[in-house]
Amino acid sequence: MHSDSGHTTSIWMSAPTPRFASLNEDIATDVCVVGAGIAGLTTAYLLARAGQSVVVLDDGQVGGGETGRTTAHLSFVIDDRFNWIERLHGEEGLRLAVESHRSAISRIERIVLEEKIACDFQRLDGFLFLGEDDKEDLLDKELVAAELGGISDALRMEKAPLPFDTGPCLRFPGQAQFHPLKYINALTRCIVRDGGKIYTGTHVSEIKGKPRRPMITTSDKHTVRANAVAVATNSPISDYVITHLKQSAYRTFVIGVRVPTKSVPAGLYWNTAQPYKYIRIQPMDDHDVLLVGGEDHKTGQADDADARFARLESWTRARFPMSRDVAFRWSGQVLEPADGLAFIGRNPDGAQNIYLATGDSGQGMTHGTFAGMLLSDLILGIQNPFETLYDPKRVSPRAAIELAKENLNVAAQFRDYLTPGEISSSDELAPGSGALMRRGLKKIAVYRDEKGKVHERSAVCTHLGCIVDWNTAERTWDCPCHGSRFDPFGKVINGPAIAPLPPAVA
Ligand SMILES: Cc1cc2nc3c(=O)[nH]c(=O)nc-3n(C[C@H](O)[C@H](O)[C@H](O)COP(=O)(O)OP(=O)(O)OC[C@H]3O[C@@H](n4cnc5c(N)ncnc54)[C@H](O)[C@@H]3O)c2cc1C
Ligand code: FES
Repeated sequence: MHSDSGHTTSIWMSAPTPRFASLNEDIATDVCVVGAGIAGLTTAYLLARAGQSVVVLDDGQVGGGETGRTTAHLSFVIDDRFNWIERLHGEEGLRLAVESHRSAISRIERIVLEEKIACDFQRLDGFLFLGEDDKEDLLDKELVAAELGGISDALRMEKAPLPFDTGPCLRFPGQAQFHPLKYINALTRCIVRDGGKIYTGTHVSEIKGKPRRPMITTSDKHTVRANAVAVATNSPISDYVITHLKQSAYRTFVIGVRVPTKSVPAGLYWNTAQPYKYIRIQPMDDHDVLLVGGEDHKTGQADDADARFARLESWTRARFPMSRDVAFRWSGQVLEPADGLAFIGRNPDGAQNIYLATGDSGQGMTHGTFAGMLLSDLILGIQNPFETLYDPKRVSPRAAIELAKENLNVAAQFRDYLTPGEISSSDELAPGSGALMRRGLKKIAVYRDEKGKVHERSAVCTHLGCIVDWNTAERTWDCPCHGSRFDPFGKVINGPAIAPLPPAVA
């Protein structure tokens, strides 16, 4: 299974998942979409509405990737700060970026209304308040930048409407929230209604674009011939290097705490801390769940999820005295582009008719929806004013320092080839755990399953060769370089890797 359905459970996962068969023949179509998360399904939905024949392939289940692990704030307030986006992309770039997220929310709202989707969609206000160590002038600057970005109704307030003293905050009307899986599950029904075909449990192992009509090959050796391919795998598998050198993978953590109904005012809340806390309420039948997220770290560069969940819980209990039990805790992956904007458009290697969407920057509900809007226009040959801003080929000289920092961090990960193993024998491993072992010059990823059987794979990531690390909370092998992830037996969960971890050599 190729979904990020690790060992923790998100609040959305109880929604019934539509089941589809795997691809077991060779087929042809107008457009093949790889990835059944919000980006892929929005692309497929819009293209099927426009009369294209569409095939969607996913190697897990619908919504089994990061879309099933989100907190689903729908916001046009850019979490990397308007100020920073304006510095990197200029006033016009900022205005377009805000507009793209705003139009994504409107598009979701329109689809919800037109398709009569019951997914708890609700418009509400967003509130940005200060992190513990941040100064008020940060909010003043952000308010000025918001205006430059075309937001004229943002307001400074003395505090956010939360049960603790947040200090001053900015209020942004017109944000929204929804239940992401109820929404995308409904999109699958619309896609099928409009003639589209969806195959799950179908791993794409190759996408060829040049010089002819694209061809997609699955690991079962079936093929899809298409006029265009939209690669919506969150981390692209059609571009092996270019976009991955311009973005970094982070793990972020969420707890869901039961609180009495309406004891916390509905709203989207987040602060300016780094990493920042993000908060919202999800109504349930006889109580609400307070979702609190944060505590991010670079993928594969820490393995202390319990401590991070505990810090989220004590932060929450200190501020929300109505907190009852922690009903959910989970983590997921976000991709942070060095210049703050997603990459949506033509594959950067110039392959014909291959398109990708990546770099969600923690705002992938709106980025993913916007990706569907932009990619469907590009595929249909419709001019779109956002094409240049989101071009995956773009170079942002003003983000050079950020980029250099990230790439130095990646280079530093290769020291793992020289370090000793974490264990010297598999006897040291408890059932359900994994660790790295050195065998001569090689690093081996060793996992002992619940029944005590030991499984060994090479620890060398099949993307560009970094050494993977064990993730205790999700029971996965995570690569510290560009965020590839593998299940305990070496099967790929997150790209850019496409191939599994190879068997360990004795
Ligand atoms: C904890 C957390 C909180 C978040 N909160 C927010 C928020 O509040 N607001 C917001 O806007 N965003 C948020 N995000 C980000 C957002 O959830 C994601 O950016 C978004 O869901 C990504 O959607 P996607 O369609 O790009 O990718 P995914 O949902 O990951 O879908 C990609 C799909 O591609 C499939 N796939 C991958 N490789 C292959 C292959 N080789 N063959 C076949 N299929 C393949 C996967 O199985 C997967 O189903 C959050 C993310 C996390 C983790
Ligand atoms: S993800 Fe790039 S080397 Fe592992």
